Amino acid sequence: MDPLALLALPRAARPFAATVAPPSRSTRRGAARLVPSDHRCRGGACRRASASAVAPEAPRADEAPAPAEERFDWLDQWYPFAPVGELDPGAPHGKTVLGLSVVAWYDCAAGEWRVFDDACPHRLAPLSEGRIDGKGRLQCVYHGWCFDGAGACQFIPQAPALGPPVHKNAKACVASYPSVVQNQVLWFYPRTEPEYKDVLQRKRPPYFAEIDDPSSYTVFGMRDFLYEYDIMIENLIDPAHVPYTHRGLLPTFPNEEDPGRVEHDREGGDAININIEQASIAGLYRSWKEAASNSRRPAHYMAQILE
Ligand code: FES
Repeated sequence: MDPLALLALPRAARPFAATVAPPSRSTRRGAARLVPSDHRCRGGACRRASASAVAPEAPRADEAPAPAEERFDWLDQWYPFAPVGELDPGAPHGKTVLGLSVVAWYDCAAGEWRVFDDACPHRLAPLSEGRIDGKGRLQCVYHGWCFDGAGACQFIPQAPALGPPVHKNAKACVASYPSVVQNQVLWFYPRTEPEYKDVLQRKRPPYFAEIDDPSSYTVFGMRDFLYEYDIMIENLIDPAHVPYTHRGLLPTFPNEEDPGRVEHDREGGDAININIEQASIAGLYRSWKEAASNSRRPAHYMAQILE
């Protein structure tokens, strides 16, 4: 999955870091920041999360695998494609998510963003390399087939005008994914089967009230990273690296409650006690002295500074 960097900075509040995450707990105070990338941890984004992390318990090696009914279904999730402000509505945009090549484009006839398979049903040319035609349809760059917002082929330039309506053949359609714009982000659901067409009525993407709060401000950004998605998530839930990887960028707060400690290095790496408050296949909620973080599968992470 292409890394997606989102950054939200509410006013007049202390920041907390997150990717795309569920709303913060009402008992916690702080400001919102969406940061799936380490490199967004500037200007205090990860402030006070700079102590080294010590899990209260090591994972048990003999732990049995989760029963089938508890296994996480990666295909029953909404995935962020991009902040819509980063997308040119006059052109298609390609991306790979979960190994799926998808293309997002703006259907001006409906006033909605669409997400399709990034493969033309004719000769599999990437539709992301196509264009929006004069009628607002997605046009393949190879032979010019045109598709409407539902993925139906509307025009095959090479088909004789008085011949059979070959463009109406089901094989001429593009697979379309459920999609929605929420929190100024285009989301899509990675199933194209008809039974998932109305999935939005059953399940929505995670919502972040802070982003839509007019008293807050939000900054979005995107950046590609040359490592895997799971490495990024592991990094986000690992505060031990912060004083070293982000040395000098963030203040450090030595843990004075570590009585056995006789040495502090200049970076300020330290021990902290992390409380695992909730843990399930859906995610992990942790807190420690100065902060809390909520990691939700598949790609949501929120860190919150506690007063
Ligand atoms: S491959 Fe798309 S029109 Fe031919």
